[in-house]
Amino acid sequence: HTARFTVDPEFTVGEVDPRLYGTFVEHMGRCVYTGIYEPEHPSADAAGFRTDVADLVRELGTGLVRYPGGNFVSGYHWEDGVGPAAERPRRLDLAWRSIETNQVGTNEFLTWAKEQGLDPMMAVNLGTRGIDAARALVEYCNQPGGTAWSDLRIKHGYSAPHDVKLWCLGNEMDGPWQTGHKTATEYGRLAAETGKAMRQVDPTIELVACGSSNAAMPTFGTWEREVLEQTYDEVDYLSLHAYYEEFDGDRASFLASGAHMDQYIRDVVATADHVRAARGAKKHIRLSFDEWNVWYAARFVGERNLETAETPRLIEDTYSVTDAVVVGSLLITLLRNADRVAIACLAQLVNVIAPIRSEPGGPSWRQTIFHPFAQAARFATGKVLRTEVTGSRIDTERHGDVPALDSVVTYDEESGAVTVLAVNRGQEESLNLRAELRGALSGYRVLEHLVLADQDPDAVNTQAEPDRVTPRADGGAEVSADGALEARLAPVSWHVIRLV
Ligand code: AHR
Repeated sequence: HTARFTVDPEFTVGEVDPRLYGTFVEHMGRCVYTGIYEPEHPSADAAGFRTDVADLVRELGTGLVRYPGGNFVSGYHWEDGVGPAAERPRRLDLAWRSIETNQVGTNEFLTWAKEQGLDPMMAVNLGTRGIDAARALVEYCNQPGGTAWSDLRIKHGYSAPHDVKLWCLGNEMDGPWQTGHKTATEYGRLAAETGKAMRQVDPTIELVACGSSNAAMPTFGTWEREVLEQTYDEVDYLSLHAYYEEFDGDRASFLASGAHMDQYIRDVVATADHVRAARGAKKHIRLSFDEWNVWYAARFVGERNLETAETPRLIEDTYSVTDAVVVGSLLITLLRNADRVAIACLAQLVNVIAPIRSEPGGPSWRQTIFHPFAQAARFATGKVLRTEVTGSRIDTERHGDVPALDSVVTYDEESGAVTVLAVNRGQEESLNLRAELRGALSGYRVLEHLVLADQDPDAVNTQAEPDRVTPRADGGAEVSADGALEARLAPVSWHVIRLV
């Protein structure tokens, strides 16, 4: 089993936008409370945020974080979360039927994010609210002072504006589960007028319109077209969301999830460009893949508890080696589409379908999926190079015939560093990778070959054994005498090969 491709720094797809390594914090389950924030925890800082979790967030290498939802935002009154904490109301959150104590709100979260070096991507409520609440929030966050909302922020103890540059106009508004669900035309008009007012407050902000909640929605394609017909001139990005899981033991299809994501991206690009062409517009809409991950959602439906609670354990999926390989392949897919995908957020950051887990009063640890994300964020920077993989293929039930090797290459012109990310989707056989190094890459050698794989593809990290699955540096890749990168990839494995 062999797969081949050619790497030539002359052939580029686009720049790696650092915002591709985004994540997501929602007021859901234990992402905020007992996740990033737990004043009673021994590691808590003066503001009540867990420093052990913050250390892992920084190690993860994410540079962007979406907040505060998710479905949660569609019923959220942001005013509940600012001002003296003792006076904040306890609200019933309709999205997750939880009690929201509002002890963490806009100011606390944005201050924490800044301390971790994260740029925020804020969402406004277009479910139960609209233009007025959204423009007030932008004014509260971004106006330096001298107006009622900005002076209120100063009174609350935050004299400097937060300067939030990126804003989502609602969340998954096509979903019947969404509080305040809308038709494409209803949503499109509201999003356009809300976006316009928000930009009247701060002309420097960028806006994301809601695309479909996933590619299987009955309105997929039509929703994107109708929303963009209403919002084209106001927005910069259109959102995509996708979660993948293994169905009925069909692991081959699960390992090929990247092929589905790739097609989804191409379909949304085609739809956005259709609207562009029909309007004779110059601007290209770029994509914000602001929720993606492996999520065993089918299990969640069964375990959903309708009792209301303050910090319920919701969708705390424990990820395996196989899940990490799929996450790696999804990262490869996002990078391969870097010419149109500018933003992507792994959903979510802590506890809720997350790379980081934490226990109340207890430890925090890295899930398996932490590793491919952290490695890509650290090493896959610069320009994405075009790679056309040929060779071994795998036939899958859900996604058809896919290459056994999934791979993308980045090239950092400044440092000259080349990073090859690769996944062997095969479950039985090792795969021989052979990549011809052309042009400026002749004479390159392997600096490091990092691998995530295991004899047991179902191995997981747990509180009891937090480092059961960690990357190794013994991949053994080499550059051959005739100038080709050669590596042997074990079944169901993730690889980072660094060349200099
Ligand atoms: O990330 C979990 C949920 O998935 C989000 O709240 C929602 O936007 C999506 O359906």
